Parts: sequence; structure tokens; C-alpha cells
Amino acid sequence: MKIAVIGAGYVGLVSGACLAEFGFDVFCVDQDARRVDELNAGRVPIHEAGLDNLVHGNMRAGRLHFTTELKSAVSHAEAIFIAVSTPTRRGDDAADLAYVHQAASQIAETLDGYSVIITKSTVPVGTARKLKEQIRALRPDAEFDVAANPEFLREGSAVDDFLRPDRIVVGSESKRAQEILRRIYQPITMTGAPLIFTDFESAELIKYAANGYLAMRLAFVNQLADLCEKVGGDIAVVAKGIGHDKRIGHHYLQPGPGFGGSCFPKDTRALAATAREAGAPFSVIEAVVGANDKRKGALFARVSKALEGTVAGKRIAILGLAFKAETDDLREAPAIDLVPALAQAGAAVIAYDPVVRSNGNRAFAGVEWAKTAYGAAKGADVVIVLTEWNEFRGLDLSKLAKSMRRPLMLDLRNLYSIAEIAKTPFTYHSLGRHTIRPLMPAKAS
Ligand SMILES: NC(=O)c1ccc[n+]([C@@H]2O[C@H](COP(=O)([O-])OP(=O)(O)OC[C@H]3O[C@@H](n4cnc5c(N)ncnc54)[C@H](O)[C@@H]3O)[C@@H](O)[C@H]2O)c1
Repeated sequence: MKIAVIGAGYVGLVSGACLAEFGFDVFCVDQDARRVDELNAGRVPIHEAGLDNLVHGNMRAGRLHFTTELKSAVSHAEAIFIAVSTPTRRGDDAADLAYVHQAASQIAETLDGYSVIITKSTVPVGTARKLKEQIRALRPDAEFDVAANPEFLREGSAVDDFLRPDRIVVGSESKRAQEILRRIYQPITMTGAPLIFTDFESAELIKYAANGYLAMRLAFVNQLADLCEKVGGDIAVVAKGIGHDKRIGHHYLQPGPGFGGSCFPKDTRALAATAREAGAPFSVIEAVVGANDKRKGALFARVSKALEGTVAGKRIAILGLAFKAETDDLREAPAIDLVPALAQAGAAVIAYDPVVRSNGNRAFAGVEWAKTAYGAAKGADVVIVLTEWNEFRGLDLSKLAKSMRRPLMLDLRNLYSIAEIAKTPFTYHSLGRHTIRPLMPAKAS
């Protein structure tokens, strides 16, 4: 079966490579010629475990192709996945569907035989139905169906999540489209993942509801950590205590600097916007959006407070810039707001991330880049842990502390146990746990 995937970003590239691995002939289209050139030269532009091997292997096998030419990719494809971005619309919180509608128009122009056009992008309820009308209006003669097939992969484990999903959701009004999607996903459903067929609207809502619910858990645990800071109690123990309740579970109960990434912030805003527009305000999700914005906005004050009120003239080491571990994605990462705020207030920022590079990102103008965590900490007044990279868990904390101007740490991921930190010279601030006071006096400046 020939499959076209429009958009070769995080979702399109991972989906395309995995579908090629199943043996389909996959054509990934991207309008970004540089990205396509890089991919054709064998360079995978995103950091995702297992993706390089999958891309290279399937390119070599002749099953995975990259092109800017939508027409040739879509021609005679039985399935066409739309995996383009759906960012927050300028001026309001709704999802901007310009790329999706643009891709749909381009596909419509090219249809030459039956195809099922599948939205894999996260799109608001009503989109699949609108796309069907849009394509029908452009090509009354064409033979096609539309299906809504939201993607649930997580960055950092995207390949594994695509190959071993908890479920596959397909919204469709056509048996023919359902059969094609059943064939496409057979290698996954064979191993037990349920394939849920539903209507367009339910499929679209499932995606936003899932992200909204997970974001809500994060906002909940973050505020619970704040409460622990005020009244005592250890958030790690409290989270464990509630997580053992089978009705609750342990996932998404780790406090952090505020959720970021390309999905939760924009999808919660879009869900709230959809609900407002529909006259069924989703006040719980509105509160999640507000709580998260406030949390990220308060990070600067948190750093300032740990440094006795001012960051000016301080050397601040940041460990981890990506919005979470195992990815190089910076979209809506807490670092994107915090780093420029620190620099603007007169701090010198030294950053280390295992995979993120400056790449001319304006948020990181003036930042000094270290090659290791130890290099970043050298001579610093404070180390801030912003991303929960595994390699930070194994750092020699005494060595790190000794190289600093003064051993102060702000751990915004609660990576270290209090017992472990107590053996080091660190003054240690984490989230929702007790602050550890220094066991040794700070070095004179
Ligand atoms: N990133 C994730 O973890 C994730 C997970 C699940 C769902 N999603 C959803 O999947 C969609 C894509 O997200 P992403 O992170 O992969 O985005 P991305 O920005 O990484 O990739 C989108 C790609 O589409 C290309 N593009 C846009 N319009 C095009 C067109 N008309 N023709 C060809 N190429 C076009 C862009 O050049 C870009 O490379 C979004 O709706 C997102 O919400 C993302």
C-alpha cells in the first residue's frame, strides 16, 4: 500500500518511519526544503530514541521517501495522513488550522483514485467534517473519505509509543476507510492494542480530553507541592500515597517547573476555546491553563528568592533546557521564558543540555554553553535543574558543589533524594519538600 504523510515533523516523521517499518511504501512530504534535503542526506533533524535507525533502515530498503513534491507523493496513495502543525492562533487561544486546510486543498487538487485522508494532527472537534466539505467542494468528482486518527505519542519515547500505543482511535463514517486503517494498524493491533472506531467528533474530542486530563494532573500536583511548601509534608510521599490508590495511579504526579512542549499548553488553550465557543465553558481546563501560566511566570521569583532577592551579577548554571528529558524540543519549555528573564536582570547564564544546541534561538542570546553539567556549574552561584535528564541523576553532587562559587541548588524536578543531598555541601531547594540548609559555610566571594 502506498501511504503519504504530509508534514515530516515530530509526528509525521515518526509515523512515516514506523509505517515504513511495517512494510508500507511511505512518502513523507514537507514544505521545508531544508528539512527534506537533510533527511535525504540521512540526517534526522530531531532527537528521538530509535528514530535514526528506523529512518536509515527504511530508506535503505527503499520504503521511505522524503520530498517537497506533494503531488507525486499523494498520487495513487490509498492513505494520506495530515501531520502538519496546529499552533495556537494569533490573537486567541484556538488552534490555528491554516496548515491543515492548506494541506487539504493541496491534496484535493491532486486526488486521482480513491484515498482516505486522515487527520493525525491534533485538530478541534468539527475539523474532519469541515475537511470533508472543503475537499468535496474543491473536487466534486473525487473518490475519497476522511478519517480522524489522533496521535498520542509522547516526545522522548515517540517511536515506542507509536509502535506500542495504549489504543488507536479512528473516527470515520465509511467502512472502506475503516478497512484501510484496520490494515495499516494491523501490525499493532495484532499485539493487543485496541482499535476504537468512532464518529469524527468523538475521535477529535478524545485527543483533547486526554491531553487536558493529563495536564490537569500536572497542574494539580504542582499546586499540591506549593501547598506542601507552606504547610509541611513531602510531595514525593504525598504523591506516592495518593498514587497507590488504583483509582488514581502514579502517572503524571511529578511536580515540575510548569508543563511545556508542543502539546499540553496549546491543546489545553484550544480545548478551553472550543468549549467557550460552544457555550459549554470548561472552567476546570481554564483553571489548568491559568495555573500553569502562573507557575512558569513565577519561576524567576523562585530563583531570585533562592539568591536572597537578586540575580544581578550572579552566575547561574542551568541544567537542561528542553521541556522534558529525551527530547530536543524547546516549544513552550520553561527555559524559553526563564533564561531571557535572568539575562535581562543582569545574570550570566551558563547552560548545559545533553541534546539542545543554541541554533541561533533568540531566547538564548548571550548564554554561555557548557559541554558538561560540571562545566556549567564551575564558579556558579546556583545550579538550576530544569529538565529531568537521567544523566543528571548520576552526577557526583559533592564534586559539582565543590566547583561552584557557592553550593546552592534549585532542583525544579526533585531529582535528588533529601538523604543524598544531605551528604553534600549543597543548600538545596526543591519543590514541595523541605529545604536543606548548608552543612558547610559558603566560600568567600
Ligand atoms: N509533537 C508531539 O509530541 C505531538 C504528539 C501528538 C500529536 N501532535 C500533533 O501533531 C501535529 C504535528 O505536530 P509536530 O510536533 O509533528 O509539528 P512539527 O512542527 O514538528 O511538524 C510539522 C511539519 O509540517 C510541515 N508542514 C506544514 N504545512 C505543510 C504542508 N502544507 N505541506 C507539507 N508540509 C507542511 C512543517 O514544515 C513541519 O515540518 C500537531 O497538530 C500536534 O499537535 C504532536
